[in-house]
Amino acid sequence: MELLKRTTTCGALGKADIGEKVILNGWVHRKRDHGGISFINLRDRYGITQVVVDAAGETEAEKELAALAGELRNEFCIAVEGVVRPRPPSMVNPEMPTGEIEVAAQKILVLNRSEVLPFQIDEESDAKEETRLKYRYLDLRSGGMQRRIRLRSEVCFAVREWMTSQGFYEIETPTFIRSTPEGARDYLVPSRLYPGKFYALPQSPQLYKQILMVAGFDKYFQIARCYRDEDARGDRQPEFTQIDIEMSFVGREDILAMTEALFGYVFKKTLNRELPPHFTRLTFEEAMEQYGTDKPDLRFDMPLRDFGPYAAEGAFQAFKDALSAGEAARAVAAARGITQNSGGVKALVVPGELMAKAGNGAPYSRKQIEELEAHAKIYRAKGLAWMKATGTGDAPVLEGGVSKFFGEGALTQKILSGLGAKPGDLILITADADRRIANTALGAVRSKLGRDLGLLDPSRFEFVWILDFPLFEFNGEENRWEAAHHMFSYPQEQYHAALERDPGAVKGDLYDLVLNGFEQASGSIRIHDPELQKRIFNILGFDPEEAEQKFGFLTGAFKYGAPPHGGIAPGLDRLVMLMAGETSIKEVIAFPKNSFAVSPMDDSPGAVDQKQLDELHLAVKLPEKKP
Ligand code: AMO
Ligand code: AMP
Repeated sequence: MELLKRTTTCGALGKADIGEKVILNGWVHRKRDHGGISFINLRDRYGITQVVVDAAGETEAEKELAALAGELRNEFCIAVEGVVRPRPPSMVNPEMPTGEIEVAAQKILVLNRSEVLPFQIDEESDAKEETRLKYRYLDLRSGGMQRRIRLRSEVCFAVREWMTSQGFYEIETPTFIRSTPEGARDYLVPSRLYPGKFYALPQSPQLYKQILMVAGFDKYFQIARCYRDEDARGDRQPEFTQIDIEMSFVGREDILAMTEALFGYVFKKTLNRELPPHFTRLTFEEAMEQYGTDKPDLRFDMPLRDFGPYAAEGAFQAFKDALSAGEAARAVAAARGITQNSGGVKALVVPGELMAKAGNGAPYSRKQIEELEAHAKIYRAKGLAWMKATGTGDAPVLEGGVSKFFGEGALTQKILSGLGAKPGDLILITADADRRIANTALGAVRSKLGRDLGLLDPSRFEFVWILDFPLFEFNGEENRWEAAHHMFSYPQEQYHAALERDPGAVKGDLYDLVLNGFEQASGSIRIHDPELQKRIFNILGFDPEEAEQKFGFLTGAFKYGAPPHGGIAPGLDRLVMLMAGETSIKEVIAFPKNSFAVSPMDDSPGAVDQKQLDELHLAVKLPEKKP
């Protein structure tokens, strides 16, 4: 077949090329016919060039060319031979890099026709997500997807460039591993050779990277595929990618500094954006108290404030009850040597000018406040109390909602100045015997307000380190302690003596990096002492035999001079998502799964032949009803 091999791309031609004879290959992006003249926007990865078919139609060849142009439809794959010429001044398009020229076609070759498209290829496709994923090869032709996949490639390259320049080795770890409990459910791969046995796909290379430190590699990284059988959502996919990192002979500060430098390099190289040399830091407790979440979005302020002292002075019984019930529960726990949250009453001041801006001048209505209350209740709040600051600058007063319980002049003034509320502001309050609930629910309200009031500028990047996480979390349903991050993280030194007695109080050498309200990276300094590791397994409910069976290879390795080590793993998909100003990681993954872990394009997961099952010694037992 004749090819008409391209001499340049659709993004390259400009005024300097006028008069040149060129060949372009690409897809028909748009075509317009005007009085016998055809304008074809020809597209490839590099851009769009306008091709014009306006030969007089006198010779046989010219007639053929005109007829062929008439047959072209969107997304036909074609080759065009022609001459670069300037556009008439009225048709110059300064928005387009190739907007000053056009190519006068002399020959067109249809390389492949296209059926009628299920949706138009545009900057962003407006088709339903299911359709976009089914025809992903078409969706990926859109300008937006092309740009995001390119950014992803550039980010990976920049990561490799920086990591190798710092002396890290890129080492691959296996994707068929032993199933070890790591938090989520494993994806399993049946073994043909060993009936009844399974490999697991790694939830992360965690154990392998630690073993690489024992093996003396000192500095490791890998752009690693991870697999977790958990429910997909906007920022979560069953298979995703981590920039996995581990280092030996380091402490927390080394890992944080390395990560800041890595992100600084990647943002500068790919987006030409300067990041601050060091990121803001909050302890887990501070994050919970100030923002009600360990993933605060610091693109806007609106911190939570303690309303406890005013609640004690005021007359609203629900607030007082929350505090006294919390205090009673804490005292009972303390008598048993256990640390427990106290009660809490927390307030959020919503600035009047932000509400006015979002509502075209109108303050928040009762209905809007009720919506916020419904949102708070999703996070287990008992209610969302409110009052408004009104009056004038020097004589502000509280009005509406629960204000009657705080109406005494002196208390009003104390509250207003303590909270920094001015006339026009709305004050929202949660109270709970469990301070964590008061914080979390009001934090969720804060996040919703960030969205509702349009405070989430996608072009801003606000990083924050969250430090000093609790090492353990109590699973009330199963009545046992679980690792808050994973079970290889180092408990901070001062808690070693009392690990078993009061696990809830133990802080770990754990850190998360949060970007614009998303957990962007997570890591820790690891345990390298086999005895300490055994104690942790024990608290998590693994008896020595079970721990030996499940993690023996790790504790075994630790017996041979394991170095102190630590690491971190930024999520690549989330990083590129935020860099691209998107809110779903599907927008930066070439072939993602939908929210039901299905790939509509190749229709996976799918059934397999009985023969395949037989070879794997598997029998399928379907559930009675569809799950
Ligand atoms: P963690 O489980 O916190 O830590 O994961 C690290 C980062 O990976 C990203 N991430 C995900 N991205 C998309 N879809 C998912 N389902 C998903 N799950 C996690 C997040 C997260 O911050 N081995 C440890 C790291 C370490 O301790 O070094 C780990 O996997 O951005
Ligand atoms: P009530 O006295 O139950 O009618 O409640 C009056 C207001 O206080 C309502 O707006 C409730 O949502 C709110 N409220 C009640 N209990 C709490 C609580 N624990 N925290 C926050 N608001 C509450």
